[in-house]
Amino acid sequence: MSNQQDILSSVIQSVRLDDANDTLIILDQTLLPNEKVFLALQEMKDIWDAIYHLRVRGAPAIGIAAGYGVYLGTKQSRAETYDDLYADFLKVKEYLASSRPTAVNLFWALDRMESRLKRETGKPVDEVKAALLEESEMIRSEDEQICKSIGEFALSLLKPGMGLLTHCNAGTIATAKYGTALAPMYLGQERGYDFKVYADETRPLLQGARLTAWELKEAGVDVTLICDNMASIVMKEGKIQAVLVGCDRVAKNGDTANKIGTSGVAILAKHYGIPFYVCAPLSTIDLNCKHGDDIHIELRPSEEITTKFYAKPQAPEGVQTYNPCFDVTDHSLITAIITENGIAYAPFEESLPVMFKHDK
Ligand code: MRU
Repeated sequence: MSNQQDILSSVIQSVRLDDANDTLIILDQTLLPNEKVFLALQEMKDIWDAIYHLRVRGAPAIGIAAGYGVYLGTKQSRAETYDDLYADFLKVKEYLASSRPTAVNLFWALDRMESRLKRETGKPVDEVKAALLEESEMIRSEDEQICKSIGEFALSLLKPGMGLLTHCNAGTIATAKYGTALAPMYLGQERGYDFKVYADETRPLLQGARLTAWELKEAGVDVTLICDNMASIVMKEGKIQAVLVGCDRVAKNGDTANKIGTSGVAILAKHYGIPFYVCAPLSTIDLNCKHGDDIHIELRPSEEITTKFYAKPQAPEGVQTYNPCFDVTDHSLITAIITENGIAYAPFEESLPVMFKHDK
């Protein structure tokens, strides 16, 4: 791949740190595809808001933002001793942890930053802050390699010319680069696989239409946008040979939380005999969570269903709504879970822990 053109050169990096200016730079994903606006964030309240309002979104990108956020918050501390700095770190950590509940990468990144802090016990505050900077940069740079590796494993399961369906956005802007479910589409594009990708629009916030269709199109991938309720017909018409999705939390038994609507796609795929692959960095696998019932599903405000993307409301004022942001796909519907360390098949209780053994 090194000799090939980087097809993602036109797709923007969605989250990065400007350490010289103590600023987190976020591509505001709520404005895509119409406007490409970068936000320069310094205050913890603004970073919390950016995560909550999905300006930065997608499990790995949330983790990266949280790592940088907790670093910046700790850097702003005036503490002069290690213990005081640790106390300030914990306040920032707890605050950012309250932004969104489902994507485990948020908690994973914050815990990883705390582990690093503990390894620096007793050191001068400037050295501890430098260590946190290093750790937050590692979370970002490792994610790029992880996504590429997931892409390679996923590509090994696919054949040129296949029709692929995806739901929500598990792409380059949801990660450091490449994405998870979209990584094999990008690698395949570079290698002439000629995939035909179908992107579910993904109601209510349209991550499939606004983000997946946008970034695949920018990279020259053959992408067709469909409404969520069209997944069945494209499968029935033989247009889909594999479904690839990302995830926000995978339980030990393989039950997988991902964007609302994912479980319906998995049920359809089972009906039509189409393999259903979950692309999951190890940071999204929560072995402490036994099964899907233990996953906290985020509920979001009504206006995301009724008014958010419309010039005029498309529902009667005051109508009751129910807006779960994620659902859990039962492990029995999942053909394989693709990690950076290999491909896990059922029984997932046995295969998922093995993936971690390859980890350093
Ligand atoms: O609410 P969102 O947009 O953050 O939901 C994102 C998803 O469901 C993605 O599929 C998931 O986080 C994986 S991103 C690689």
